[in-house]
Amino acid sequence: MKIVHVVGARPNFMKAAPVIAALKPERQIQQVLVHTGQHYDQRMSSIFFTQLGLPPPDVNLGVGSASHTVQLAQTMLRLEPVLAEQFPDLVLVYGDVNSTLAAALVSSRLGLRVGHVEAGLRSFDRTMPEEINRLLTDQIADLLFTPSQDANQHLQREGIPAEKVFLVGNVMIDTLVRLLPQAMQQWHDNRDLHPWQHQPYALVTLHRPSNVDTPAMLTRIMATLAHISESLPVIFPIHPRTSKRLDDLPLEHKPWCMDTKARLHLVEPLGYLDFLALQRHATLVITDSGGIQEETTFLGVPCLTLRENTERPVTLTHGSNILIGHDMNRLHTEVARILAGQPKQGALPMLWDGHAAERIATILVEQTASRRETGSLWSQRVV
Ligand code: UD1
Repeated sequence: MKIVHVVGARPNFMKAAPVIAALKPERQIQQVLVHTGQHYDQRMSSIFFTQLGLPPPDVNLGVGSASHTVQLAQTMLRLEPVLAEQFPDLVLVYGDVNSTLAAALVSSRLGLRVGHVEAGLRSFDRTMPEEINRLLTDQIADLLFTPSQDANQHLQREGIPAEKVFLVGNVMIDTLVRLLPQAMQQWHDNRDLHPWQHQPYALVTLHRPSNVDTPAMLTRIMATLAHISESLPVIFPIHPRTSKRLDDLPLEHKPWCMDTKARLHLVEPLGYLDFLALQRHATLVITDSGGIQEETTFLGVPCLTLRENTERPVTLTHGSNILIGHDMNRLHTEVARILAGQPKQGALPMLWDGHAAERIATILVEQTASRRETGSLWSQRVV
């Protein structure tokens, strides 16, 4: 059996790494790794391959940045001949980025079977490109691996047959569980992080268009962060999208640059291990990322999410996450509550145990065996 994994953007790498590792001992499974190149910087891509122990991609499509439509189209154009030549039994796609949907669409047109890792998540906000990517990928997928019970319920409501859906747990947490000890070791050895080892701080990441693409919103958020930093220093590793938007703002819209009391540390995007260590030790995290809502829940670190909704509601019902929306007064209030020693207490959601990828591997091996017995094919050429 041959499996092609398609990855493209930063959050894909943490999800694919444990699945590739769990399938490695299965000699009957040949694995091929395709990187679409949606993320291409050393800081956004190759450092993750190194730190996560991912094998170098067998193919890199070099798609790069463009409008979402062009990015989708370019990925499909460049991926089609690769998948047609490889003609795998299964294409595994991850998460909800543009590369995920593009790969699912091309695979279905070629008659290839598709497995979706992290299926069934819904924010119910169709203005987010990721929500459309999730909905369409799940409609196409033949095997859907879900992280939590709510995801199974969404898929059932959308008419996906139950026999295609497997509740396996959270693969992103597999990576965290594996690498946390190494991250802690590096934290002590890394001189750049020393200043943060002995003082409380807030860690911030923001890159969603709803937060950073409108100058007025970005200015409001940055001014609030500057204000918060007067009582708690803020470390803000800047995503390239956010960095470009900040560069575009005229200086008079950046009062925090002149604020002498502000302790706002804008830094380059960090590697997985440094960022994980900083999360683990943070007093609180402010974010609009999906994965970070989950990682803080696992770590028990208070998380304030600058979004109106989340596709990961277990982080609210079970975890340490609170949805702030775009209400900056609420952000101040919740930060003050945490600093007063009253953070939201969380618990660990079901199956966030570091073994989700092993469950996926077991299912794939069983499926292969039962198909061999019945003589049914995985993929069938349609052209
Ligand atoms: C993408 C995903 C998002 C994910 C995020 C994580 C989609 C629709 N969005 O958003 O779900 O949370 O990645 O990072 O797929 N850029 C660089 N270097 C890079 C990559 C990007 O400078 O290596 C710049 C590009 O020039 C572009 C901007 O960052 O202007 C945005 O990149 P893009 O991949 O389009 O979307 P993200 O906002 O990163």
